[in-house]
Amino acid sequence: MAETETRQVVYSPHVVGVIGAGQMGHGIAHVMLRAGHRVVLLDAERSFGEAGAKRIIRGLARDVEKERLTEEQRRQAVERLTTTTVYADLASAEFVIEAVTERFEVKAEVFRLLEAYCSSETVFASNTSSISITRLAASTARPAKFVGLHFFNPVPVMKLVEVVPGLQTAPETVERATTLAASTGKTPVQVNDSPGFVSNRVLMPMINEAVFCLMEGVADAAGIDDVMKLGMNHPMGPLELADLIGLDVCLDIMKVLYESLRDPKYRPCPLLEKMVAANWLGCKSSRGFYQYPAK
Ligand code: 3HC
Repeated sequence: MAETETRQVVYSPHVVGVIGAGQMGHGIAHVMLRAGHRVVLLDAERSFGEAGAKRIIRGLARDVEKERLTEEQRRQAVERLTTTTVYADLASAEFVIEAVTERFEVKAEVFRLLEAYCSSETVFASNTSSISITRLAASTARPAKFVGLHFFNPVPVMKLVEVVPGLQTAPETVERATTLAASTGKTPVQVNDSPGFVSNRVLMPMINEAVFCLMEGVADAAGIDDVMKLGMNHPMGPLELADLIGLDVCLDIMKVLYESLRDPKYRPCPLLEKMVAANWLGCKSSRGFYQYPAK
């Protein structure tokens, strides 16, 4: 093949189940549809599933405006989307990606329900940002077919997927999950199952430190964000990014780092804890380090 020739990689379409139609789940469903896969999007609340589907449909229309999809591809993608509240509808899924609340018990319950309906060949993936993949896998009867697939917010835009094998994950599962992630046009990077993986191990202490700077009056929020944007070329400052991610999510991840690595350098900033206690969670609650229009 000539060096200048572009290699066309053709991926076969799959049936992909996505559990949770929130910020991450609807984004994952969107990129799977855009890649040509069939998606069954499950949320326990019908209204959440419908809201997620609306956002996906808006996103696909935007893809046409931006010439990432043709009108015909958009129409087919919308047809390939099903929303449900019923686990039995996931029986034909070859992959299921879980993107529910970041609590071990909640995720383990989702996988317990899935096991009743999915084939033993189905790969289960978790989009957890910090819970041990090995521990989640061990809560199922298929630890060899369990893997972490960690997407980034906003999912349709961010190019990375961390692929995280647990201790018992089979190499074939890692390969299948890596191929699925690559089919969406993203770059899969394999990292070991360690608290926060690489992304949140590095990102969250930076955000936490920015909150300490704010708490100690080193600068105001806009000043801290400007320093990181203008001095370090970050696309967003750490405090606006925390608002985008959700302060509750940031706090949960800091707690996982602190408790599992047992190092005081991961101590969550008291101001972060206080803001979460006040339900100031960032963009989703209209108030975080900045104020946002009510949703
Ligand atoms: N949700 C969905 N899409 C968004 C968005 C959002 N919150 N913000 C921006 N976008 C889309 C825009 O619609 C636009 O799409 P288009 O191509 O259809 O027009 C595209 O992103 C680019 O947007 P803009 O040109 O308006 O804005 P920017 O160039 O400023 O980029 C950004 C916006 C991509 C969000 C950029 O600021 C950025 O990269 N920020 C950092 C995000 C980041 O670090 N994410 C990782 C968080 S960590 C994580 O998710 C892990 C988890 O475990 C915590």
